[in-house]
Amino acid sequence: MRTPPPRPSPTRGEGELRRFPARGGGELVTKSEDETRKLGGKIGKAAKAGDVVTLEGPLGSGKTTFVQGFARGAGFRGQVVSPSFALTRRYLVRGKTIHHLDLYRLAGRDLPNLGLEEYFQDPKAICIVEWPEVAGEEIPADHLRVRFEHASETSRRLSFNAAGSRSEKMLRVIG
Ligand SMILES: Nc1ncnc2c1ncn2[C@@H]1O[C@H](COP(=O)(O)OP(=O)(O)OP(=O)(O)O)[C@@H](O)[C@H]1O
Ligand SMILES: [Mg+2]
Repeated sequence: MRTPPPRPSPTRGEGELRRFPARGGGELVTKSEDETRKLGGKIGKAAKAGDVVTLEGPLGSGKTTFVQGFARGAGFRGQVVSPSFALTRRYLVRGKTIHHLDLYRLAGRDLPNLGLEEYFQDPKAICIVEWPEVAGEEIPADHLRVRFEHASETSRRLSFNAAGSRSEKMLRVIG
């Protein structure tokens, strides 16, 4: 089988893919909160039970906004707010659970074991995690890692890295 020719990679307009190698990752810029939600929605729609997505980036960089779209894309119609104080929230959609974890409150602490397996090893659940740095090794190896950066007041640069075949599948919808 022949390999397809590489995609042309000129920088396209904001909000579109800037660079997306065929596998593994890439980055793009969203120029509004709504664009970040829509992008989250595409990935949420593609996510399956057992998938894990991690969201890194400073305060206010758009992680929860992304989760709002993600949950909606996965079929959840309720309200998604930051779980900062509760650490976790659970959204139920047709026999499937989305665990939304926000580990910010634990950041900077040296915690040997947070006991997060109950979330990550729930075969019927999708996990999406803000501030995953805290969980370290407890995050399953095959996860989709998204990094958020402020590009301007209303735009954010999102970098995606898929660490295995499951997470690569989620990325295909935007590749
Ligand atoms: N392109 C954009 N994408 C996402 N949010 C944006 C964008 N432009 C501006 N914003 C604003 O940035 C803020 C993002 O807040 P959000 O709660 O999603 O951040 P967060 O990364 O979850 O922060 P925290 O670490 O405190 O949980 C919102 O006020 C939103 O309106
Ligand atoms: Mg948040």
